[in-house]
Amino acid sequence: MKICIIGSGYVGLVSGACFAEVGHDVICVDNNQGKVDMLKAGKIPIYEPGLEDLVHRNVSAKKLQFTTSTEDAVDKSEVVFIAVPTPPQPDGSVDLSYIEKVAREIAVVLKPGQYRVIVDKSTVPVRTGEKVADTIRRYNKGGADFDVVSNPEFLREGCAVPDLMKPDRIVIGGNSERAIAAMQKIYEPFMAPVLVTDINSAELIKHAANSFLALKISYINAVAQICEASGADVEKVADGIGMDRRIGRNFLNAGIGYGGSCFPKDIAAFIAISDDLGVPFTLLKEVQRINATQRERFLAKIREALWVLKEKKIAVWGLTFKPDTDDVRSSVAVDVVRDLLAEGAIVTVYDPKGMEKATEYKLVEGAILANSPLEAAEGAEALIVATEWKEFAAVNFEELKERMHTPLIFDGRNLLDPVIARSFGFTYTSIGRA
Ligand code: UGA
Repeated sequence: MKICIIGSGYVGLVSGACFAEVGHDVICVDNNQGKVDMLKAGKIPIYEPGLEDLVHRNVSAKKLQFTTSTEDAVDKSEVVFIAVPTPPQPDGSVDLSYIEKVAREIAVVLKPGQYRVIVDKSTVPVRTGEKVADTIRRYNKGGADFDVVSNPEFLREGCAVPDLMKPDRIVIGGNSERAIAAMQKIYEPFMAPVLVTDINSAELIKHAANSFLALKISYINAVAQICEASGADVEKVADGIGMDRRIGRNFLNAGIGYGGSCFPKDIAAFIAISDDLGVPFTLLKEVQRINATQRERFLAKIREALWVLKEKKIAVWGLTFKPDTDDVRSSVAVDVVRDLLAEGAIVTVYDPKGMEKATEYKLVEGAILANSPLEAAEGAEALIVATEWKEFAAVNFEELKERMHTPLIFDGRNLLDPVIARSFGFTYTSIGRA
């Protein structure tokens, strides 16, 4: 199939590369000339395992192209994906101005007699598809022939390529057989289960899925608080709950809370959407509240141990919102660093991939950036594990203890083994386990 994707961010770029990989002809569009030039030169603006190879291979095979011209891309494509950002507004509701702008842009370049499927892949509030269709109809002068489809994306950062190549399910929301058939053809090579729904249901699936996953995390974090109060071990409780196949062990990892560019934004959006529809989803407010208390309780433990934080040297391992990504947006690890800096601590940070972006966005100004985990820990009175990078778990405890001023570890991701850490003489504190 001939496909174009408008918006070469996370979702757009990874989807484009994967569609090309399975044999489609893909044009990725972005209005940022610098980014398009960079992609054309083979440089990838984000760190995502496997993506660079995929892009290089498909650019060389001429299956994947980049352009700033929506007109040219829409003209050459049977199916037009929209994958632009849908950022939050201050009240939590979704800013749909990028989607609306792209809908107008598509409308003016659609030619009569040229059927196009317009697919919304961005995470959008229910009923956005109707508005996209109305907008295209309103701004198109020549009676264009098109259908709108909703096709939410479920990839996770850090494993976006495997998630896209081997998805749990493909959701296609549409009301035209012709459009649905085109979508099925695009996804046929992925050999994944396909769920066909109406547009509204498909849109709702995305917000409901992300909110449910966040709910699962807040649930186990609330259980972790009860474990701390009662002397139980949250990891064991999670294993015991998770062995029930109806529940599952995934997303039951207690920690300092979820972050990233999706969960915080999507939960706030779902709350705003439900309020708008007159059916307030108050359970999700509790999910947000529990998430916020996890970081507060963690900082309280550090204060309890160190008493005054001012001028204390504290090492933080991790800046990204999760491992295997360089994404530091809405990262709880960044928030922890900022909290410590605000209290006057001297903070030394190390992250395998996140330091460049944290510096670029000026997120941890005032923190000292180290070149390795052990360098960060040099002379520190406490070490905080804020992101569960594998390389942190492989630390040489003996050397770490030698480097630190006092052997105190606060593990906000339950990454290290308490028994091993304590056997080396560390005072070790984690989440929901004694
Ligand atoms: C999430 C969803 O998992 C994807 O399905 C969805 O497509 C994506 O949002 C999106 O809407 O674009 P992502 O934000 O990349 O993906 O990362 P996750 O792996 O879901 O992790 C989100 C946060 O939850 C991270 O901060 C992670 O540390 C935290 N988390 C995750 C926990 O605290 N505990 C867990 O058990 C799992």
